[in-house]
Amino acid sequence: MANARLQHDDPLQFAEDLAAEGKAAEAACFLQSLIDGGRGGLLARLALARALQAAGQTQSALEVARETALLNTHVAVAALGLGEILLKAGQLPTAIGEFQRALRLDPALEEARYGVGCAWLEAGEAEKALTSFGELSAAMTARAQPEIADAQAMSRQQRSDPRYVRHLFDQFSIDYDERMLGQLCYAAPRILRELFALVAGEHRSLRVLDLGSGTGLSGAAFRDLAAELHGIDLSPAMIEKSRARAIYDQLNVGDLQSALSEGDRYDLILAADTLVYLGDLAAVFEGAALSLVPGGFFLFTVEKQDGDDYALGPKRRWRHSQSYLRAEAAQAGFDVAGLMECVPRSEANAPVEGLAVALRKM
Ligand SMILES: C[S@@+](CC[C@H](N)C(=O)[O-])C[C@H]1O[C@@H](n2cnc3c(N)ncnc32)[C@H](O)[C@@H]1O
Repeated sequence: MANARLQHDDPLQFAEDLAAEGKAAEAACFLQSLIDGGRGGLLARLALARALQAAGQTQSALEVARETALLNTHVAVAALGLGEILLKAGQLPTAIGEFQRALRLDPALEEARYGVGCAWLEAGEAEKALTSFGELSAAMTARAQPEIADAQAMSRQQRSDPRYVRHLFDQFSIDYDERMLGQLCYAAPRILRELFALVAGEHRSLRVLDLGSGTGLSGAAFRDLAAELHGIDLSPAMIEKSRARAIYDQLNVGDLQSALSEGDRYDLILAADTLVYLGDLAAVFEGAALSLVPGGFFLFTVEKQDGDDYALGPKRRWRHSQSYLRAEAAQAGFDVAGLMECVPRSEANAPVEGLAVALRKM
């Protein structure tokens, strides 16, 4: 009886309460029946989209939010609602477009400006997020404190944020192989394979771990040496591409550091053009040393930095100096078995100066 009265008094609040109690699917059914009965307007449709998303029905949520925005092209909250659903679905460029459209329709709609900041944050773009949050009113700034703190922490990290890397490579995955092997003259896997032959001779039946395995170009260069080949990558879309190659025995979506703390032991660990997304390499060197058998190899390419440290380059890839690599290698218990200058790829038709490195666990 009490429920029936609440439904009658404020059906949208009733649906919101259901969703807050973890009954999102029930809330969606209730809202759908309201709309089907001709008793639901714009707000009911937006609430339905949110309830569907909370119930894990992302595609249906997107359909409802898109249809609502189309039916209300001049209503800012409809664009805002679609932007919020797109943001949660990880469709970041389109989400930003909808938030900006909402702001054009109603420049005072603070939630849309907050949404832009959140979408940049989700894309790992700390500076752009902070610029958007910087335009909020005092009251909204107070509400956005956790996101502002997150963006500030992100901009201080000595590595590329995993959200930035995931977003970048989810987008890049579509034509990664064509662009890398064509226009960008990508050679890191071949260079590492040649370096391995130089420092280790002919080895077979190895347990190999490929860090930042991407679409599998690096794994493919070593497949014939591997009894078992594992790959890990932050980008689900890159992992899907590598799965289609059918050369890995195990593939995981995640940060490479997680593969180095599982207690597995490998004969060879690869990181072809992956460490350019990390500045400070202490943790990855330490993890690689723990995950290799004695005498095992850690093979990687980096972009070259002069001097004796590491730094973020203009293309948002980190560069590492020889002396930094040697110092960190010694600290982690590695011998430098080989270190040579190379051109792992080109950028804007110019060769990128790099280093190919083979470390042997002592
Ligand atoms: C330039 S691609 C190289 C891919 C592959 N190794 C190759 O040779 O084609 C760099 C890859 O490293 C992944 N990556 C970067 N940082 C990572 C991290 N911390 N953990 C896991 N993967 C990472 C990216 O998602 C991307 O797929």
